[in-house]
Amino acid sequence: MLAGPNGQGKTNFLEACHLACTLRPLRAQKLSELVRLGEEAAFVRARFQLAGGERTVEIRLADGKRTALLDDKPVRDPQELFGGIAVVAFVPDDLLLVKGGPDGRRRLLDRAVQNRHPLHLTDARDYARALKNRNQLLKQGAPDALRAAFDEPLAKLGARVRLRREQVLQELRPRATLAFSQVARGEEPLSLKYLAAGRDSVGLGDSALEGGEAALADKLLQALDLRLPRDRERGYTSVGPHMDDLLLELGDKPARLFASQGQGRAIVLALRIGEIENLKAAQGRAPLLLLDDVSSELDPERNRFLMDYLSSLEGQVVLTTTDPALVLSKDRARADTRLLQVRAGEIAAS
Ligand SMILES: Nc1ncnc2c1ncn2[C@@H]1O[C@H](COP(=O)(O)OP(=O)(O)OP(=O)(O)O)[C@@H](O)[C@H]1O
Ligand SMILES: [Mg+2]
Repeated sequence: MLAGPNGQGKTNFLEACHLACTLRPLRAQKLSELVRLGEEAAFVRARFQLAGGERTVEIRLADGKRTALLDDKPVRDPQELFGGIAVVAFVPDDLLLVKGGPDGRRRLLDRAVQNRHPLHLTDARDYARALKNRNQLLKQGAPDALRAAFDEPLAKLGARVRLRREQVLQELRPRATLAFSQVARGEEPLSLKYLAAGRDSVGLGDSALEGGEAALADKLLQALDLRLPRDRERGYTSVGPHMDDLLLELGDKPARLFASQGQGRAIVLALRIGEIENLKAAQGRAPLLLLDDVSSELDPERNRFLMDYLSSLEGQVVLTTTDPALVLSKDRARADTRLLQVRAGEIAAS
């Protein structure tokens, strides 16, 4: 546990942990945001004790680019690091996911998928690239033949991305629902649904999943065609996994519209616990957890629930807080808890 007042470097430390495990930033959109203002480069070095022995990861960020070494050998993709170490992060911004726009919920789902299938990231990236190219051609009013060259790869990758999301959602559903029932206070049950863009208008609803990946790719291709006149006018692609959403409901009411703030937080807490439980079941061990000052955002009862859950979890948890009293209590502390103080960018045992 890292404790310290505001602005001392707690989140910064979690950023470094996240980068070392996944090669990607925790909160920042761009790698360059991780470099200290006025400096040219950032450097992170981490030592991992894994079942197979000790490994060292070194990452350097400069000029918006990343170079990474695993035991002195270059790595390009996160899955080359120990096959993609599973990391679940929980940060205060997550608590806004329920009420916010669909992109946050898509990101939540994609991170969960990536922990289960490290290759998902590559497919999602290739999909995003094909999409960008196609959108550019739509905007430029490029000839049909040129644009059409992107449709097939886009549909194929899109089908793969969506199916993986659907599959992981299927795994998460019972676990998140159970966790929600444990933190609920008389709320109706939580339900999770994949909401595909064009589900009613261009045949991309649940029935599109019936024939597997190739059939879904065909459906997506047809949908791209059906939407073409409209998409050409607007200069962007209006169907595909980049437009889909995760519908969260309490009973039959959409949580985005009806949940209170506290209920929204309880839902996110349940989703995170669902993901941890799912990874435990699938991989035989809990993921590395990074929690950034979440305690101060939850009400005392739900915070106690989370802390009890964490203390019974076998796995490494790195959490930050401005107030250790919110986190530690005599009957709850794990025997292996270490309390560290963060002051002006320095970490010290207390
Ligand atoms: N890219 C950057 N360059 C320079 N300073 C930065 C950069 N990003 C953040 N900082 C500063 O580093 C300090 C530590 O930030 P950090 O977010 O880690 O604090 P924190 O301990 O998590 O604080 P809080 O409790 O408020 O969340 C802050 O003063 C912040 O403004
Ligand atoms: Mg912080």
